[in-house]
Amino acid sequence: MKYNFDSKINRQENKERKNDLNYLKDNYQLDDVSQVINSSIADLDFQTPDDIRKAIIHRANQSTYSYTFVQKEFNKAIQDWYQKLHNIKISQHWIKSGHGTVNALFQIVQAFTNKGENVLIQTPIYGPFFRAINLSERNVIENKLVFKNQTYEIDFKDFENKIIENNVKLFLFCNPHNPGGVVWSQEQVQEIIRICQKHKVLIVSDEVHGDLVLNDLTHQSLLKYKVTNNNFIICNSPNKAFNLGGLKGSYLIIADEEIKRRLDQQFEKNSTTSPNIFFQPALISAYNSVQVFKWLKELKEYVYENYLFLKKELSVLENVEVMKMQASYLVWIKYDSNLLSFETFNKLLKENNLIVGMGAEFGSGNDWFRINIGLSRQKLQELTNRLVNILKIKKEK
Ligand SMILES: Cc1ncc(COP(=O)(O)O)c(C=O)c1O
Repeated sequence: MKYNFDSKINRQENKERKNDLNYLKDNYQLDDVSQVINSSIADLDFQTPDDIRKAIIHRANQSTYSYTFVQKEFNKAIQDWYQKLHNIKISQHWIKSGHGTVNALFQIVQAFTNKGENVLIQTPIYGPFFRAINLSERNVIENKLVFKNQTYEIDFKDFENKIIENNVKLFLFCNPHNPGGVVWSQEQVQEIIRICQKHKVLIVSDEVHGDLVLNDLTHQSLLKYKVTNNNFIICNSPNKAFNLGGLKGSYLIIADEEIKRRLDQQFEKNSTTSPNIFFQPALISAYNSVQVFKWLKELKEYVYENYLFLKKELSVLENVEVMKMQASYLVWIKYDSNLLSFETFNKLLKENNLIVGMGAEFGSGNDWFRINIGLSRQKLQELTNRLVNILKIKKEK
C-alpha cells in the first residue's frame, strides 16, 4: 500500500517548535504568523508511521513511567537495522544509548579534548557542531568545503595541514552532510580515514542522515571501513527519518573498549543515565516494523520528487544555485547577494511569512540558506511560490 504523503495534517496544536504559532510569534519577525511556513527546522511535516505511534501508545497505556534501563531488544533492533538497511554487521556490545546526537557531540568533545584544544570540522556545517566546541571552551578549526558542480568537495591538503598546524586530535564529521546534502564518496571517506589515522585523530561520524540516502547512492558509514585501533565513534538516532526528535533519544556505536569506557565515564559525570521511557519502544518499532521499512522507502521517493519539483520551479530565477540533494530532505541554496542584498532578502522573508535556515547558522555567508522539503507537494508549491516571489530576479528570455 502506498502511503499518502499528500494528506494534510494540522500540527498547530501540538506545541512543537516548528509549528506553534505563539512560539513562532515570540521568536520570529513575521508580518502574519497565521500564514507562516517554517522551513528552518529539520523535522518532517508528515505523520510518524503508524506502528511507531502504536508502540508509544502501548507504552503510554501502561500508566507508569518510572526510570528504565537499556533493553536487550533495543540493542538487537539497532543491530538488525544496520544489517537490513546498510548491510553492515555490528556487535550489540558496541552500542551505547544516548540522550540525543547533539548531546553526544558535546559529551564527546568534553571527554576527548581539554579546554583550549582544537577540534576540526568541515564548514559550512549544522550549527550545533560549532556550539559543541565553542561552548565547551575548545577552538573550532575549519576545513572549508569547496563548492563545485552543485556539491561540496574536500580540500584534503588543507584538511591535513589544519590537523598538523593545530595539533588536532578530534574531527567531527557530518556524514551525510548537513546542510549540503552530500553523500561522501568511498574515496573521500577513505582519504579522511587515511589522514586521521596518520595523525592519530579520533573521527566522530554523525550519521543521523544516513538512513535517508537517496536513489541508488549508498550511505558510506564509517562502519564499512577499517580504521586502525577502531579510533572512531558513530552517532546516530532515528529522529530525522521518523520525526522522533522530541523524544530526545539517540545511540552511539563504539567498537573500541577504551573509547567506550572513556565516554561511559563522561556520561556518568553528566548523569546521562537511562533513556526516555518512550524512546526505546519507538526505536524498536521503527527498526523492526516491515510497515515502517516500506514507509521509509516511499518517503525517500516522495522527497526526491519534491526536490525535482523545487529545482524546476526555481529554474526561472537568475540569481540562484540549488545544491544537489543526495540525502535527507534539506536543500542548501545560494542566491546572488550582488543582485539582492541580505537586508532585502530578510525583509522579503518577513513579508512572505517564511522562515528558512540562514547561512550564518551554518558558518556560511548570508548569501546561503537552507530549506526543508519534507512536506506535502501542495505545501511545497506554496513554499516555492514564496521563494520565487522573494528571489524574483528572473532569467531574461
Ligand atoms: C547532522 C545532524 N546531527 C544531529 C541532529 C540532531 O539529532 P538528534 O535529534 O539526535 O539530537 C541533526 C538535526 O537536524 C543533524 O542534522
